Amino acid sequence: MSDTLNYEGRVAIVTGSGGGLGRAHALLLASRGAKVVVNDLGGDMQGRGTSGSSSPADKVVAEIKAAGGEAVANYDNVLDGDKIVQTALDTYGKIDILINNAGILRDTSFHKMTEDDWDQVYNVHVKGAFKVTHAAWPHLREQQYGRLVFTASSSGVYGNFGQANYAMAKLGLFGLAQTLAQEGGKYNIKCNTIAPFAGSRMTETILEEKMVKALNPGFVSPLVGYLCHEDCPANGNLFELGGGWYSQVRWERSEGVTLPLTHGISLEQVVDNWGKITDFSSNTEHPIVALAGFQKVEPNLATLPD
Ligand code: NAI
Repeated sequence: MSDTLNYEGRVAIVTGSGGGLGRAHALLLASRGAKVVVNDLGGDMQGRGTSGSSSPADKVVAEIKAAGGEAVANYDNVLDGDKIVQTALDTYGKIDILINNAGILRDTSFHKMTEDDWDQVYNVHVKGAFKVTHAAWPHLREQQYGRLVFTASSSGVYGNFGQANYAMAKLGLFGLAQTLAQEGGKYNIKCNTIAPFAGSRMTETILEEKMVKALNPGFVSPLVGYLCHEDCPANGNLFELGGGWYSQVRWERSEGVTLPLTHGISLEQVVDNWGKITDFSSNTEHPIVALAGFQKVEPNLATLPD
């Protein structure tokens, strides 16, 4: 198949793209014609320190330029999201694509987790993504076009030992993205979320060498690239991927049971109906809007005593 998808005329911001997944996304978008703001403040995996002018962002910009692409470095913290967006506007006059990718880890069991561990992880992942997206949003609305990707994690979707702070932040991003998918839809702004697996400095210490190779971040970027493309129909979806495996994840709700409200509802009625409440063997649904739950209650209003 020929390389038909391109991003000619599009401007992209990729946060935390001085290495790992962000770098791979930036290289792919730039190789297909996007002008890319390569944001990275440097620093270690725990979000401590910065690396100044010889920053990872500079290296990725140099790589992109050496391959004939266009890119500019930005060294701001995602918490200063307006400055990152300003770099796109000052350099390229607009923004079309935003990949919220910057991230840090402060792994420890919940028992040992400090409030600082919690706050730092929340700040970089959730507040940082909020700040960059919030600064970009008016421009995307005004031009009636935008493609956003948020980087969650299977740790957020399923939970993971030692990552209470990270899991909280990652599932928070999914909630944010799903809401923006609904608010942005009529402006042709599409927001999707990925839960990737990749061999990067975040994971190379815990994975075997061969696995790290198979989990090359470059295998995640093609799906991310498609989510950033104008032809992609997806909006408000979650994708789990890595090492050449690509999948979509969705919620599933049991049919459940509706108990009459006539005489109130006892604890024992819940116990008696536990099997039905937790039965996924048939008539399950995959809800995509929050208000769907109310539709279940409406027919039950008739059982309310006057
Ligand atoms: P990485 O550590 O190589 O990349 C993260 C980048 O974000 C670093 O270059 C770092 O300097 C930058 N960064 C950190 N704080 C920043 C801030 N406040 N402002 C600007 N830049 C900042 O790690 P990796 O694996 O490439 O992670 C990328 C994203 O993917 C992260 O959000 C991570 O949580 C997520 N992720 C990664 C997985 C993996 O298997 N590698 C699994 C699930 C999610």
